[in-house]
Amino acid sequence: MAMSAKTMVCGIVLHPAGHTRSPAMHNAAFEACGIDAAYLAFDVPPQRLGDAIQGMRGLGLRQLAVSIPHKRAVMEHLDRVDPTAQAIGAVNTVTLAEDGGLEGANTDWIGALRALEQKIEPGGKRAVVLGAGGAARGVVYGLMRAGADVSVLNRTESRAEELANSLGASRFGGLGELAALSPEIIINTTSVGLRSDSSPVAAEAIPADAVVMDAVYEPEQTRLLRDAAERRAQPLEGKWMLVHQAAEQFRLWTGSQPPIAIMAEAFDRADQS
Ligand code: ATR
Repeated sequence: MAMSAKTMVCGIVLHPAGHTRSPAMHNAAFEACGIDAAYLAFDVPPQRLGDAIQGMRGLGLRQLAVSIPHKRAVMEHLDRVDPTAQAIGAVNTVTLAEDGGLEGANTDWIGALRALEQKIEPGGKRAVVLGAGGAARGVVYGLMRAGADVSVLNRTESRAEELANSLGASRFGGLGELAALSPEIIINTTSVGLRSDSSPVAAEAIPADAVVMDAVYEPEQTRLLRDAAERRAQPLEGKWMLVHQAAEQFRLWTGSQPPIAIMAEAFDRADQS
């Protein structure tokens, strides 16, 4: 699509910038829906984050996505943070409101929930979240909001306890406690498996039929997901969390229905380029 003086510019702020597939997903969605907008990636080191966010106001940029390592730090540069992002403790979406105020929101938790809903309705289900870092908070929040019975397991148990208490999850423990919980849903938010053939839990701890989602998306078929398939559980690739969180941003920013299949295709193609 040709750019003009009317083209809406938006993008993602992260550091380092090289690896994001967000521009591919959003630009494909804009094109498919005939929306005159361009989505760029801005490599912003932590010491420049405040300048970058203030720059939105200066330039009149309506929307910016915020990714690693800025999701927490960005909050101090905003005028308003919505209650959900406040509860999660992270912002991944900044919007310049009509009154000139900078507003923070979070679509990561919706992405996790929508991805999961492709396979299972989480309400009333026993769900286990592996990990207790920043990514875990959004996932736990989403599951709680959907009415799941949530346990948080982490290598460092004290962090699992802190997270479970702060968001009201039922249980916490170490990674070895998975089997005893007979989960119907397992979501890995640890970095274990990222570009390595390892899993945070023993294959034998995965119950047959459980939906097993991995926030790690490189490689697409992580060790955890392959173990899940072998155990006759239902593996769900981490790419769907990213596709659905981007889709929610698209909905928020354009008010249009996101073309999910086109965004997922763009995600796949971005890997090959
Ligand atoms: P993020 O914001 O992406 O969640 P993070 O806050 O650094 O990143 O959290 C990383 C998560 O991966 C933590 O739950 C971490 O466990 P600890 O709290 O015990 O550090 C988990 N993690 C990282 N490496 C791990 C490993 N080798 N084995 C098990 N868990 C690991």
